[in-house]
Amino acid sequence: MNKQLIGKIIFLLIIVQVFGKKLNSQKSLINNKSQQQRDFQKFKKTYNKSYESNELESYRFNVFLENIKQADRLNNENPSAQYGITQFSDYTIEEFLSLYANVKPPSQVDIFDSYVQNTSGAEETLVNLPQQWDIRVNGPGQLQQVKATGQCFCDCAFSATSTVENLYSFQQNQTLNLSEQQLVDCNYRSQGCNGGWFTDAYDYVKYTGLATSSRYPYIGMKGVCREQQVGQLYKIKGYKNLPKDQNSIKQALITNGAISVAVDGSNWGSYIRGIYKASPPFQINKGVTIIGYGPNYWLLRNNWGTIWGEMGHIRVANDGTGGIFLENAFQPNL
Ligand SMILES: *[C@@H]1O[C@H](CO)[C@@H](O)[C@H](O)[C@H]1NC(C)=O
Ligand SMILES: *[C@@H]1O[C@H](CO)[C@@H](O)[C@H](O)[C@H]1NC(C)=O
Ligand SMILES: *[C@@H]1O[C@H](CO)[C@@H](O)[C@H](O)[C@H]1NC(C)=O
Ligand SMILES: *[C@@H]1O[C@H](CO)[C@@H](O)[C@H](O)[C@H]1NC(C)=O
Ligand SMILES: *[C@@H]1O[C@H](CO)[C@@H](O)[C@H](O)[C@H]1NC(C)=O
Repeated sequence: MNKQLIGKIIFLLIIVQVFGKKLNSQKSLINNKSQQQRDFQKFKKTYNKSYESNELESYRFNVFLENIKQADRLNNENPSAQYGITQFSDYTIEEFLSLYANVKPPSQVDIFDSYVQNTSGAEETLVNLPQQWDIRVNGPGQLQQVKATGQCFCDCAFSATSTVENLYSFQQNQTLNLSEQQLVDCNYRSQGCNGGWFTDAYDYVKYTGLATSSRYPYIGMKGVCREQQVGQLYKIKGYKNLPKDQNSIKQALITNGAISVAVDGSNWGSYIRGIYKASPPFQINKGVTIIGYGPNYWLLRNNWGTIWGEMGHIRVANDGTGGIFLENAFQPNL
C-alpha cells in the first residue's frame, strides 16, 4: 500500500470517529435526585401541571422518571431524532396510547362510499420531483395555524379540516378556518371525541359541508349538533385514496396540497425534533397531515399545538422505519 492511500484511510477513519461521536454525543437525560426534582418542577411550570394531592404528585413524578428513562433509551436507539420532556411526560404509556393514539381504521364492512375517486381531470406528471417541499414555504396555498385537540381525541377531524382549508385557499382564494367541532358533534359515523376515520370525516364534508370555526367554535368535547344554524357550509366535491407510492404522493402534494395520512404515533409522546424512526411492526393509531417531504423524510403536521415537536410538526423517516401508512393517504378535491 502506498503512503497516500494509507493517509487517506487514516483521514477517513478520523472523519468516521468524529462524526460517529457527534451523533452519539446526546447528553443522557438521567440526572441525580435533586436535579430530577428540579426537572419535574420545571416540567410542571412549562406545561401548567398541577396535582390534587401529594400522593398523586409523587405517583406522577415516578411516571415522569420512567418516561425520562424511555426517552433516553429512544435517544440511544435513534440518534436521528431527539426525545425528551414533553407535555406527555407524566402520562403512562397506556394512558398516552389510549388517549392520544386511538385512531382505528374501520373494518371493510363499515366503509360507506369512502373510496370514491373524483378528481378534476388528468393529473399533470412531474418528471423531476423537487428534493424537498414544504407547503408553508412552497405552497400550494396556505395552511391555518397548528391547532390543538386538547382532551377531545378526533385526529381525523383536524386532519380533514387542515386539508380542506388548504384546498380552498389555493383553489378559491378563500382563507377559511373550518370547524372541527361540527365534525365532532354532527358526524354520526365517527365517535365524537373517541376517534373516527378520514373517510367518515370527508364524507361528511362532501354531503353536508363545514361551517367556519368562528360560527361553530371548538370546545373540545362532544356537544349537540348545530349544523342547521351556523351559516354557510363549505363542501368538497370528493376525495381520493392516493396510490401507495412515494412519488405519486409527492406529486399530489405539490399539485393538490395537503394530504391526510395514518401513522403509528406510539413513541411520539417524547419526540422533540429530528427525523423519527422506530422499529416495525407498526400499527395505525393516529391521523395527521402530510405538508411536505425531504430526501429522507415526510413532514407531518400534528394537532397537539405548537408546543409539541418541531412547532407542532414531526419529520418521519421515509425508508419504512417512520411508521407512516401511505396506503391510507387521502386528499380532498373541489
Ligand atoms: C446534580 O446534577 C446537577 C446538574 O447535572 C449538578 O449541578 C449538581 O451538582 C448535582 N448534585 C449532586 C449532589 O451531585
Ligand atoms: C393553567 O391551569 C389552570 C388550572 O388547570 C388554568 O386555570 C389556567 O388557565 C392555566 N393557565 C395556562 C396559562 O394555561
Ligand atoms: C364526480 O364529479 C362530477 C362533476 O362534478 C359529478 O357529475 C359526478 O356525479 C361525480 N361523481 C361522483 C361519484 O361523485
Ligand atoms: C385573493 O384574495 C385577496 C384578498 O381577498 C385579494 O387581494 C387577491 O387579489 C385575490 N387573488 C386572486 C388571484 O383572486
Ligand atoms: C381556528 O380555529 C381553531 C379551532 O378550530 C382555533 O383554535 C383557532 O384559534 C382559529 N384560528 C384563527 C386564526 O382564528
